[in-house]
Amino acid sequence: MVKERVLSGMQASGRVHLGNLVGALQNWVRLQDKYDCYYFVADWHALTSGYANPSAIRESVKDLLINFLAVGLDPERCTIFLQSRILEHAELHLLLSMITPLGWLERVPTYKEKQQELKERDLATYGFLGYPLLQTADIIIYRAKYVPVGVDQVPHLEISREIARRFNNFYGEVFPEPEALLTEFPKVPGVDGRKMSKSYDNAIYLSDSPKEVEHKIRTMATDPARIRRTDVGNPDLSPVHQLHKIFSSKEEQDYVAEGCRTAGIGCIDCKKILIKNVFRVLEPIWAKREELIKNPEQLDSIIEKGNEKARAVCRETMELVRKGMGLI
Ligand code: TRP
Repeated sequence: MVKERVLSGMQASGRVHLGNLVGALQNWVRLQDKYDCYYFVADWHALTSGYANPSAIRESVKDLLINFLAVGLDPERCTIFLQSRILEHAELHLLLSMITPLGWLERVPTYKEKQQELKERDLATYGFLGYPLLQTADIIIYRAKYVPVGVDQVPHLEISREIARRFNNFYGEVFPEPEALLTEFPKVPGVDGRKMSKSYDNAIYLSDSPKEVEHKIRTMATDPARIRRTDVGNPDLSPVHQLHKIFSSKEEQDYVAEGCRTAGIGCIDCKKILIKNVFRVLEPIWAKREELIKNPEQLDSIIEKGNEKARAVCRETMELVRKGMGLI
């Protein structure tokens, strides 16, 4: 049986943290046997808002590629590639730009939201407006059926579907309409209790050392009402407890919740259990990261192979696109 195709990407605008791991990468790993999966690092997308700081993009690309492999994406079972090495994405982006009404792009909610959020950057650019169109090209060039993404990406998927439909109306059925593959994930809080995010400086990164991870968890926010060891606490108000819900067994969750409510255990006792469990998840990732960092040629060759596989698919699609659009 032919497997249905899945595609997803991650923007190269920071290092991979536990939120990315739980919210995206672990899901990508789970999908790789059931589907024909294509996963990539979106470095062009990072440029749309980070064009003033290319060295940060370079660092991020390295971190993302290493972590894709370190968390268990297996180049034997899925295709891993780097967006900017597949020039066909850019060609399709250009050709789609011919048929994309400006209003469609201006209406995507993330356009104005992100401009507001990143006020210090000048995002009144052509490239930034085109972000969802580039994303559309990324997706439909593989004629992918499913795109595993978070809810925040749903408007992007919506415009991808509309553009695929518009292309097909003009030039004949080339593109299936991609569907978001939404899975519910627990929200991962950062060390300050807000959503884990590189922009809040509250993230635990896969590239953090064991010492750093331990320190970040030990100094993490807890229920603010629990000041002294003898104060009782409410685990529902503690971001540490939210992490327990992701990383600890049911028994451990019950034990720390009870200990918190009765002041039976201290916050450090509770955090020690979390540290142990986060380490259990991170240790194999750290080991794999070390191996890959020691062997940069191995990493390069894996990505080069992935790029070639991706390119082969894109070439086929672009034949149809060019033909449809009157180009020889
Ligand atoms: N917008 C995605 C993010 O913020 C990155 C991305 C680019 C992507 N192209 C894509 C995701 C195609 C899924 C499919 O990380």
